Amino acid sequence: MARPGDARALAALLRARMDIEGPGMFVPPGERAALMAQASRLGSGGSPVSAGVGPVADIGSIDSIDALRGIAETCTRCSLHESRRTVVFADGPDRARVMCVGEAPGAREDETGVPFVGRAGQLLDRLLVSVGLSREDVYIANVLKCRPPGNRNPQPDEIEQCSPFLRRQVALVGPEVVVAFGTFAAQTLLGVRESLGRLRGRVHEYEGVPLVATYHPAALLRNPQWTRPSWEDLQRVRHLLAENDRA
Ligand code: URA
Repeated sequence: MARPGDARALAALLRARMDIEGPGMFVPPGERAALMAQASRLGSGGSPVSAGVGPVADIGSIDSIDALRGIAETCTRCSLHESRRTVVFADGPDRARVMCVGEAPGAREDETGVPFVGRAGQLLDRLLVSVGLSREDVYIANVLKCRPPGNRNPQPDEIEQCSPFLRRQVALVGPEVVVAFGTFAAQTLLGVRESLGRLRGRVHEYEGVPLVATYHPAALLRNPQWTRPSWEDLQRVRHLLAENDRA
């Protein structure tokens, strides 16, 4: 359902993508298929962490975002704690209508402790603006809270150890919509192995919360032809919020 101004918003987004990355090259989708196949469903989050791999804490029972952040910031549950500079827990208000989930921090995020502040983050901000959302209003987190060295693919054990944090974040933030950016976030949250191409274009559910899967902004920087589909995915988010407003 187009609104007046939609065409302008999309045009502005297309220009923003070009400003951040340039015209871009075509990169075949599915380059991370092997990883995605390994991505395991989010852990239960309710089970105590075993001694020896990190602080013993029942993450599923932590009742505030601040307390959860405190535990994450001293986490040694997987080997990524050895190479990280900063734990990149999240950005945004403790309660938010929209929660965005990416994959893992990159170099800039590892330096600053804030998710999505590099070029992908700049594009994320513009994507949000193009559908009338602002970064300040949304809660942004990643599947992994620590940077994989050299931006290598996250490993299944890292996902398993880190997933209880994400699961608890969703529960505490209480979003009306979760947006999974990239195959990795979508497959991890949904516990499926389908390609992003198959997952996007419809609304899923994660723990009772509508979930929209869309391209990762970093992939979008390389694939300009995905700009309009990304925008359409985010329009779906806007419509879900509008439906709630009317209810
Ligand atoms: N990519 C992500 O998935 N997350 C970030 O925080 C930055 C880049």
